[in-house]
Amino acid sequence: MALLTIPDEAQTITGHEAVTAYLHACGIDYERWTPAHPVAADATEQQILDAYAAEIDELKVRGGYVTADVIDVSAATPGLDEMLARFNREHWHDEDEVRFIISGHGLFHIRPEAGPVVSIEVSEGDLIRVPRGTWHWFNLCADRRIRAIRLFQDKAGWTPQYTDSGVDEKFLPVCFGLSHLPLNSQTNL
Ligand SMILES: [Fe+2]
Repeated sequence: MALLTIPDEAQTITGHEAVTAYLHACGIDYERWTPAHPVAADATEQQILDAYAAEIDELKVRGGYVTADVIDVSAATPGLDEMLARFNREHWHDEDEVRFIISGHGLFHIRPEAGPVVSIEVSEGDLIRVPRGTWHWFNLCADRRIRAIRLFQDKAGWTPQYTDSGVDEKFLPVCFGLSHLPLNSQTNL
């Protein structure tokens, strides 16, 4: 279940209906795919795509997406920091950013046209659609792990276009969910 925070207002929003409604008002689609289809931790990309074929096909029809793949990164991924550095600054795409989280965690920040910046911590079972043109940035959480299905209208449109606003520098890339912190961190809380 996604966890929303509005840092400028020191506000946290939880619960499916409240999260969905707040994000909808920001132009962001959020939903849960339930029941989740069990996939093994070592499932191949194709096994994951097959397990969620029905949901992917429905989304393709709804959003005009033509391809789907699976992104899979961890702390062991070569060049991870360079990869993240492309997306942790405020940017937009000429393409929707659609992610269904299979495992791990991620932190989206969205800067709506109106209203404060909202941070969205996504985890297993969350589907998020950031429409093309939306200002946003992305970080991993402490587990530095995410496996997610991505959908594309046109992969060429997914190149980040930077705003260079500097707004992203005012927000800490901190995830507030506790379940994925290292065990020694939890015991110290
Ligand atoms: Fe992006």
